[in-house]
Amino acid sequence: MDDHTKTIALIVAAGRGERAGAENGPKQYRLLNGAALIAHATLPFLQHPHIDEVMVAIHHDDRALYDQALNNHPKLLDPVYGGSTRQLSVLAGLEELEQRRPKNVLVHDAARPFVDRALITRVLDGLEHSDGALPALAIADTLKRGQNDAVVETIPRQDLYAAQTPQGFAFASLLAAHRKAHAAGRDDFTDDASIAEWFNIRVALVEGAPQNGKITTRADIAEAEHKMTSTTPDIRTGHGYDTHRLVAGDCVWLCGLKIPHNRKLEGHSDADVGLHALTDALLATIASGDIGTHFPPSDQRWKDARSDQFLKHAVNLVEQAGGTITHMDVSLLCERPKIGPLRDAMRKKLADMTQVDVARISVKATTNERIGFIGREEGIAALATATVVLGA
Ligand code: CTP
Ligand code: MG
Repeated sequence: MDDHTKTIALIVAAGRGERAGAENGPKQYRLLNGAALIAHATLPFLQHPHIDEVMVAIHHDDRALYDQALNNHPKLLDPVYGGSTRQLSVLAGLEELEQRRPKNVLVHDAARPFVDRALITRVLDGLEHSDGALPALAIADTLKRGQNDAVVETIPRQDLYAAQTPQGFAFASLLAAHRKAHAAGRDDFTDDASIAEWFNIRVALVEGAPQNGKITTRADIAEAEHKMTSTTPDIRTGHGYDTHRLVAGDCVWLCGLKIPHNRKLEGHSDADVGLHALTDALLATIASGDIGTHFPPSDQRWKDARSDQFLKHAVNLVEQAGGTITHMDVSLLCERPKIGPLRDAMRKKLADMTQVDVARISVKATTNERIGFIGREEGIAALATATVVLGA
């Protein structure tokens, strides 16, 4: 790709983890619930639909540990060797990525294994209107400056934030800022947002995530292990059903595909029963009513509307609730048209509309053995099931 549209994640993992006790090896390769810490920190980027590629900056001594910790993935680039400070590791990564001409880069600490998809999305959204985006948490505690074990002053906490990663930037701006800082002998920056600030890049604040702390000490590793093993995943399954009447016409809409037919489905919108059933299934996972609650048929705005907007709205609501869609299944019940030859095109359409991997989307169909209203071709029905993991 040569058109400056890519977003690449750069994961920095070249530190030695001294404060976490280096005797068991660098902290980013320690196992947390069966997978290396760095794998937890990297996977959400590999799985995010709007991250195109991921590169990790590693230490020269860690190549074998790295190869063991991360499985091959089509989006994962060869690692780059980092430097003696975090700042130099980021710079090494940016220099290596320059030839790929990305539009944006997200820089993330390998030591933050609790990053999640929603946080990545918030940073990407922040980059829509700013060259920098920083996830941060407002400070809740009162802050004190201390000296010799005694309080010297209280720092007003108003307007103070704790910075997290991933921090997002327009790639060219961040690279220019890093090069200038390096040339100026400034090697004391502890994160990229402060370099951006020094270089006068506007950095938008976006909401951080309380669980997205950095693993720094031995105690942090123990606590993270406890958190990962003790949380029962909140898995939701929702189902949906819809049917529409067949009347005289020349095409039907099913799962987002316009299919020539000698009849059409009657309805206020395009009457796509597949998308309607799936929209209901998704809304059900977060107990958010049904399609009629969100798009009342009495509302003229939805007359002749394309149903993909209903589905996309449900996908957004699931994401806002902290959910990740892990699976969707649609069954179409009709005598005609024949769905088999269209099945993969439908799966692809659904993947495009929902940004869910096509491997997690199933479409199937059955006739009704010529029995009942479906058998007599008076209507078409659809059943759908959606599986969502909340707070993953
Ligand atoms: N990092 C890096 N290159 C360095 C130093 C740090 O890529 N020369 C990375 C770390 O691997 C980590 C992140 O920057 O993912 C944040 O740094 P920190 O938490 O300080 O990790 P370490 O430097 O490894 O730990 P310590 O300071 O305790 O030695
Ligand atoms: Mg360090």
